[in-house]
Amino acid sequence: MQEFISKRATGMKRSVIRELLKLAERPEIISFAGGLPDPETFPHDELAEIAADELRSNYRNVLQYGLTEGSTILRRVMLDWLRLQGFDVNVEQMVVTTASQQGLDLLGKAFLDPGDVVFCGLPTYLGAIQAFTLFQAEKIGIPLEEDGMDLDVFEQRVGEARQMGKTLKAVYVIPDFQNPTGITMSLAKRRRLLEIARREELLVFEDNPYGQLRFAGEPIPSLQSLDADGRVILLLTLSKVLSAGLRLAVLVARSDLIDVLVRVKQPTDVCTSKLTQHLAARYFLDYDIEDHLRVLRQSYCKKREAMITALETYMPKEEGIHWTRPDGGFFLWVRLPEEIDAEEMFARALEHKVAYVIGNAFYVDGGGKNTMRLSYSVSTEAEIEEGIKRLSGVVREELAARRVSLAT
Ligand SMILES: Cc1ncc(COP(=O)(O)O)c(C=O)c1O
Repeated sequence: MQEFISKRATGMKRSVIRELLKLAERPEIISFAGGLPDPETFPHDELAEIAADELRSNYRNVLQYGLTEGSTILRRVMLDWLRLQGFDVNVEQMVVTTASQQGLDLLGKAFLDPGDVVFCGLPTYLGAIQAFTLFQAEKIGIPLEEDGMDLDVFEQRVGEARQMGKTLKAVYVIPDFQNPTGITMSLAKRRRLLEIARREELLVFEDNPYGQLRFAGEPIPSLQSLDADGRVILLLTLSKVLSAGLRLAVLVARSDLIDVLVRVKQPTDVCTSKLTQHLAARYFLDYDIEDHLRVLRQSYCKKREAMITALETYMPKEEGIHWTRPDGGFFLWVRLPEEIDAEEMFARALEHKVAYVIGNAFYVDGGGKNTMRLSYSVSTEAEIEEGIKRLSGVVREELAARRVSLAT
């Protein structure tokens, strides 16, 4: 069979992490692993009413094929929403995708040849690493600081890669409440990143699923809205703000880039589901998305608070244990003392009925062994407290075990 498999598919390993996470799905386990939106926040009654109406009175349209660019009704609604947020965009600058993961795949199809370089955070979103890997791109990781990528290192890596004669294509950034760390890139860094991208002629892939879920601090303009020369491609998903099951996002970019993306989307799925596009558009037209977002922000803020309070209460007071304090989104990031390997600790965590994502999965250079991602989005506040109590016990045991083995 091996001889039939494409080179591209051969490079795609089954993720060890995903296999481990299957174990975390047992009901007795409190899992901080999945980065899912809280299902209790889905506006299911409203969507049920809209769906019944659309299927009865608009079935000829919503059960049919649609435009590859996306349904006009959803693109209009998204344009209005973006304009309210200060974006200066028109309809030719947008394509609807089957959520952001398809957007990442289309970016690979449209812009990446084997060996092309994409710079990304160290750590960064696993699904993006997989998408760029599928197109055989080289991923070069740039360490993160408290206010986003270390841009001195970025410039250094760009210089090194150029010297080696590599083709540099893009930098991938999640500027707000990054997955997996919860870190937000400062305005100064956004401006400087754009300057570097301009000088080095790189595209900027700006992935922003969590920007609407800010519950502390002031919003920072997106890279796309600061971009003067049309090199930013923004991915904006509705997964975290409305429903992940609708599978909807938009890509926003210069119209000639959108044209390429539409061409590569056509053979992928012809069009994104017209039914779900209409459901989302009608939701925006019939209800106030801002009211909905206010509820989401309040709910995730409380959960983040519960997790931070529990970490402060239960985690061993050891040097080398740190966590981020995100101003929005779903995740916080825990760094453990160097001697702890979060992958080895995972089995102990499952014994104590708690789960997390091993941080190493988000590193393109194999680093981050002593880190883990904790998601507070789906657990209740009581589960968060109990889960962190369990996890803190696991860390304490692991530290003790390491020290015994070092002493003997
Ligand atoms: C940074 C980032 N990009 C993309 C996605 C994919 O989201 P979707 O395909 O549901 O839009 C996620 C989901 O967790 C994410 O965190």
